[in-house]
Amino acid sequence: MGITMNEMDFENRIVSTEFTEADNDIENSLRPKELTDYIGQEKAKENLSVYIQAARARGEALDHVLLYGPPGLGKTTLAGIIANEMGVNIRITSGPAIEKQGDLAALLTNLQEGDVLFIDEIHRLNRSVEEVLYPAMEDRALDIIIGKGPSARSIRLDLPNFTLVGATTRAGQLSAPLRDRFGVILRLELYTNDELASIVRRSAGILGIDIDNKGAYQIASRSRGTPRIANRLLKRSRDFAEVKYDGVITEEASSDALDRMEIDELGLDSIDRRLLTTMIRNYNGGPVGLETIAAAIGEEAVTIEDVYEPYLMQIGFLSRTPRGRCVTALGYKHLGFEQDGQQSLL
Ligand code: ADE
Repeated sequence: MGITMNEMDFENRIVSTEFTEADNDIENSLRPKELTDYIGQEKAKENLSVYIQAARARGEALDHVLLYGPPGLGKTTLAGIIANEMGVNIRITSGPAIEKQGDLAALLTNLQEGDVLFIDEIHRLNRSVEEVLYPAMEDRALDIIIGKGPSARSIRLDLPNFTLVGATTRAGQLSAPLRDRFGVILRLELYTNDELASIVRRSAGILGIDIDNKGAYQIASRSRGTPRIANRLLKRSRDFAEVKYDGVITEEASSDALDRMEIDELGLDSIDRRLLTTMIRNYNGGPVGLETIAAAIGEEAVTIEDVYEPYLMQIGFLSRTPRGRCVTALGYKHLGFEQDGQQSLL
């Protein structure tokens, strides 16, 4: 089966939380290097700051850290900050990139004392690779099997003290033995509009973009709680501002830009609206099971769960009940439906 229209929608949508090549240059130049420059995530930041200070004072590597939460919230950025604050190097890889046990062994044996190994999408590691990780995390040891059959024997190599920073969209997807080996587990939350507005102003300052407070707030409030989206919308708004609004991103300039990109005032795009509308029209607003919604709109269930639902739940448009998902009264109202499913004449 070829690529479907929905997959294309998902990859191309400007409010996608998926990391793309176009984000690469911008995210690298905007990534804060120190915890004090990292805006928001106060709870995670406070705890992390204590653990870093304590490990530094003892002259030890930081305990292994698991970061979880929806995509685009700055998990890679935080891993970079951890390495920087500990004064060590970081190696960045991802679960799907480590295919064989030997790939992980090569990564581990190249680490230096104290280094951070960052594994993004760690829930996608395969089982055999995961088994190499257990002794590495627990005993800082690598067990290598030499030979085959009855004469095979295992030798144990010592690894340097290192810190594994794992990132995942959902801690629940991780196997229990892996999850249990992380000493520090931090959940990242969607950002508030005030936090996102601060991130937008900071990014604009670094990129030399002229923006006023209302312009920053306008971008923030349509960014679905996600800095990756905010930074992307900032770049697109700059284009509109330069061509049509004397180069300054004002409220008018950013509203115009975002309206033209069909991102509504709460940051919903056509896929979010289709998801909610389908639930209202076809399933009376729910309760309806995740798999049923997935089939109806042609998206994968995990994508709906990781990418669309967190924000729709944060703004109170969707609720998860034991019997399935429901569109709330607020969701009906926003889309212009009466509770009986009739589209009101707005
Ligand atoms: N860029 C992306 N996430 C950020 C954050 N939390 N603080 C500052 N800049 C960011």
